[in-house]
Amino acid sequence: MRILVTAGPTREPIDPVRFISNRSSGKMGYAVAAEAAKRGHTVRLVSGPVSLAVPAGVERALVVTAEEMLEAVVERLGWCEALIMAAAVADWRPREVSPRKIRKDQMRMSLELERTPDILSRVKDGKGSRLHVGFAAETHEVLESAQRKLASKGLDLIVANDVSQPDAGFEVDTNRVCLIGADGTREELPVMAKSAVAGRIMDWIERRSGRR
Ligand code: PMT
Repeated sequence: MRILVTAGPTREPIDPVRFISNRSSGKMGYAVAAEAAKRGHTVRLVSGPVSLAVPAGVERALVVTAEEMLEAVVERLGWCEALIMAAAVADWRPREVSPRKIRKDQMRMSLELERTPDILSRVKDGKGSRLHVGFAAETHEVLESAQRKLASKGLDLIVANDVSQPDAGFEVDTNRVCLIGADGTREELPVMAKSAVAGRIMDWIERRSGRR
């Protein structure tokens, strides 16, 4: 299959030296890309700024902002049969970006923010038979929030990610997820290596597309 994966954070600039971002290391998305390539799929990875090596056999495009990630995904959308959005896209960005470093004494103590584009929502129309997989990073009401995002973003599968514990979610090598399908299926997984979680996501995709 032709699989497009996104990974890592986005950075939304305040000025040339400061930005808004989050704790995503890219490990989860890179594990999905690596696992898909290992299984013989053709994999393209759109990655925010991370310090990870490109997995073997994967073609990577680097982006910084949510807007750039949206453009990179849209460019590759017609090519792919499955889109897996593991990236932690920043939800807000400064309304104005200063072209020069803001001096401490010039800085107002509040930033005016605006929403970034919601990539999955933007690409849901006309998805046809392409599989769309999202993640939901949640600290509370994990399954309920994930279920809402599954419906509102028009997904086939959402990976509900409980990020409230130190052994799951951002930065660590393990994760704790529940796979929720739009068809009503639920697979609650114990804490496992991100590579193993990636395997379970790929099992789901291959089953769903009749390759397993
Ligand atoms: O990178 P790691 O350190 O390994 O951490 C892994 C992870 C916690 C980042 C990953 O497992 C994860 O949960 N990724 C999704 C994080 C997230 O942004 O969740 P969300 O609930 O805010 O977004 C829901 C879905 O919409 C996600 O698939 C996200 O990629 C997508 N989204 C979000 C915002 C936006 N503007 N556009 C989007 O498409």
